[in-house]
Amino acid sequence: MNSTTDTARNPLDRILVLEMVRVTEAAAVAASKLIGRGDEKAADAAAVEAMRQAFDELYMDGTVVIGEGERDEAPMLYIGEKVGGAPGKGPKIDIALDPLEGTTITAKAGPNSLAVLAAAGEGDLLNAPDVYMDKLAVGPGYPDGIIDLAKSPTENVKAVAKAKGVEPGEIIVCVLDRPRHADLIAELRALGCGVVLIGDGDVAGVIAVTDEDTTIDMYMGQGGAPEGVLAAAALRCVGGQFNGRLVFRNDDEKARAAKWGIEDLDRIYTRDDLVKGDCIFAATGVTSGSLLEGVKYRRNGKMTTESVVMRASSGTVRWIKGEHQAK
Ligand code: FBP
Repeated sequence: MNSTTDTARNPLDRILVLEMVRVTEAAAVAASKLIGRGDEKAADAAAVEAMRQAFDELYMDGTVVIGEGERDEAPMLYIGEKVGGAPGKGPKIDIALDPLEGTTITAKAGPNSLAVLAAAGEGDLLNAPDVYMDKLAVGPGYPDGIIDLAKSPTENVKAVAKAKGVEPGEIIVCVLDRPRHADLIAELRALGCGVVLIGDGDVAGVIAVTDEDTTIDMYMGQGGAPEGVLAAAALRCVGGQFNGRLVFRNDDEKARAAKWGIEDLDRIYTRDDLVKGDCIFAATGVTSGSLLEGVKYRRNGKMTTESVVMRASSGTVRWIKGEHQAK
């Protein structure tokens, strides 16, 4: 499979698309043993270690560009770490990952925690510093540029409502439940919008705009920048628009941006500024939620997983249910 011709044409060799699910599955299964155990750190560490190991089974020369932190902060899956079993030989791939997106959710057995990653060609993912990002997203089927972070929430809701052919008050917006969003929530409620408040997990929150079953039209508010890049990768595969703007709270955060070569601190990034070229997005549910079923231990000594893997160039979305021996 991994012929020179194939990898030269597209580093995301087709075989890697399905293989990526093994990586998120491994992380999700490891984290699932700590669901509801009240220990966020242990759940995260289990997921990180399992994901790290699973990467080594893949024929690729991978580099973590969004990971668990900088080298001095994270023992594994730190930014810049090489992953994959074919360093110097396999296709060169940049990886954004979050072995456990929703550590608190997992510790408290809440909904929507995921093991998640995005993979793209070298240089195709924004190397986002670990700061906050203002996020605005809408599902597929709207004219390009319908959302604009430079405009107010009211203006964005009105634009989407008009294009959808409904009143602004019929628009449903997903927002992280945080004190910093009090004004945003008040503004949306004044318009009559339905506000779906989530406790954590804005990767799933953003992706929810792509699925009509969730009834969520838009995503708004501030969350982690790395999670913004991961969500943008998913939207690049299935459609939908995304705007993100990094938020710097102090000089240390600004210094991080400079380190990653980010000069325009106020820049509004579109989905395709965050993720370019072909990309793969893969996720496995840890706890059940709007996107995926979580890991479930069955009475027959087996466990089941649910994953999704998508690829931008083909637009293919695969839902994968796994049945595994529960060890
Ligand atoms: P963790 O998995 O790192 O706990 O992140 C969960 C999360 O809810 C993200 O989905 C979101 O982007 C971020 O935290 C929001 O940050 P904060 O909790 O500081 O508001």
